[in-house]
Amino acid sequence: MNFKAVILAAGKGTRMKSKFPKVIHKVCGKEMVNHVIDVCKKSGVNDIVTILGHESEVVKEKLPQNTMIAMQTEQLGTGHAVIMAKEYINDEDTIVVLCGDTPLVKEDTLKKLFDYHVDNEYHATVLTTKVENPTGYGRIIRDENQDLLKIVEQKDANEEEKKAKEINSGIYCFNGKSLRESLDLLDNNNAQGEYYLTDTIKIMRDKGQKVGAFNGSTIEELMGVNSRVELSTAEQIMKRRINESHMVNGVTIIDTNATYIEADVEIGNDTIVYPGAMLKGNTKIGSSCVIGMNCSITNSQLGDYTEVESSTIVDSTVGENTTVGPYAYLRPKSNIGNNVKIGDFVEVKNATIEDNSKASHLSYIGDAHVGKDVNIGCGVVFVNYDGKNKFKSVVKDGAFIGSNSNLVAPVTVEEKGYVATGSTITDNVPQGALAIARQRQVVKEGWVEQKDQKDNK
Ligand code: UD1
Ligand code: CA
Repeated sequence: MNFKAVILAAGKGTRMKSKFPKVIHKVCGKEMVNHVIDVCKKSGVNDIVTILGHESEVVKEKLPQNTMIAMQTEQLGTGHAVIMAKEYINDEDTIVVLCGDTPLVKEDTLKKLFDYHVDNEYHATVLTTKVENPTGYGRIIRDENQDLLKIVEQKDANEEEKKAKEINSGIYCFNGKSLRESLDLLDNNNAQGEYYLTDTIKIMRDKGQKVGAFNGSTIEELMGVNSRVELSTAEQIMKRRINESHMVNGVTIIDTNATYIEADVEIGNDTIVYPGAMLKGNTKIGSSCVIGMNCSITNSQLGDYTEVESSTIVDSTVGENTTVGPYAYLRPKSNIGNNVKIGDFVEVKNATIEDNSKASHLSYIGDAHVGKDVNIGCGVVFVNYDGKNKFKSVVKDGAFIGSNSNLVAPVTVEEKGYVATGSTITDNVPQGALAIARQRQVVKEGWVEQKDQKDNK
């Protein structure tokens, strides 16, 4: 059986009160529509068409490359949206329809829905759930045998129908042929003047085709996001789910409420995450690491046994058994090796620091290559910018840069070169040499007494 997914994502999402289309608002760092695309793929459906309309260019930019899209230039309803994908729907296909605004649906639930649909030989199966407060959702109406009769939208429901507690998730499986034929029969004679996809159920049933409702999950999973309040609810649910999955994999999270981990982050086992951690984007943390309090780590990779505290790391890599912080800032393109110490108030940008080197306190290391076993003293500044251009400095293996020195780029300190404290280095330092670039100290004995005598005259 050939499964194909059609994802509806053409709407504006008026209730979001946003200049951006609804489906690109993020839940745990990932656009809602991309959550839906990813879960389709995980459940084995790789043939995916996304329906775009409102601000389609903006949405398209956020989709994975090579995604198939169909355009719905005027948003005339969910049924009309699926009609826009008709050329992709073949008679023998099983079509899974999902909405771009239900980001929490799980792979397992989709698989169960597919099985239910196939096993019962339904022409259409709708995924439903029961809720205390069904306000806003389409209601599932069953007949006296508890078989699915139709779906009625909130705005079209009579008092009796409004009482139904079983709601439409907006996720369905359809037999391709039956779907194509029923789409042709849709009309917009309803409260919203829209072509409702939900009406295909009644159309099929009236033709004598078997339709089913699979009450297969909870509202926690199937909720649609229509407003910022619902977006925040979805965020909380997803956050908890992500944190729990890391804990199941062997990660200790001290305070799950105070830990924010985005959807695609990977963490090795025996790593401990302290409160205030924000792990974002394409971040990968090794095993047995300590992510101390108040760390923000974005699109970065950390090796095993590395410890970070109260620091920010962006678009960078850090090796194994290295310590970062407290209060360090690794800006983009920092590549830190193994057994390195990046201490308090050290800022690194576009720089490589190789194994066993140390910058323990108060330094700026920008546009640099620092070799192995190098000691960067307290308060060292890599002076990389002349007001117009940036230049690179190189500090080779075993070099020692004394405290409060400036390396004015471009400059090279050769292997085991030694820079005396307080130097401003503008010329290369040869291998094994000492460079002192400051005034020699002058001592004037008895100067204070002489001054006092002068002043008192
Ligand atoms: C829809 C269902 C409702 C269900 C609910 C579940 C219909 C008529 N109603 O209602 O039964 O309980 O989802 O969350 O299907 N879209 C388009 N083109 C359009 C209209 C909508 O692509 O012309 C897309 C939207 O971008 C959105 C999705 O379809 O991603 C659902 O649209 P929305 O307006 O949120 O539908 P609901 O009123 O929530
Ligand atoms: Ca919705």
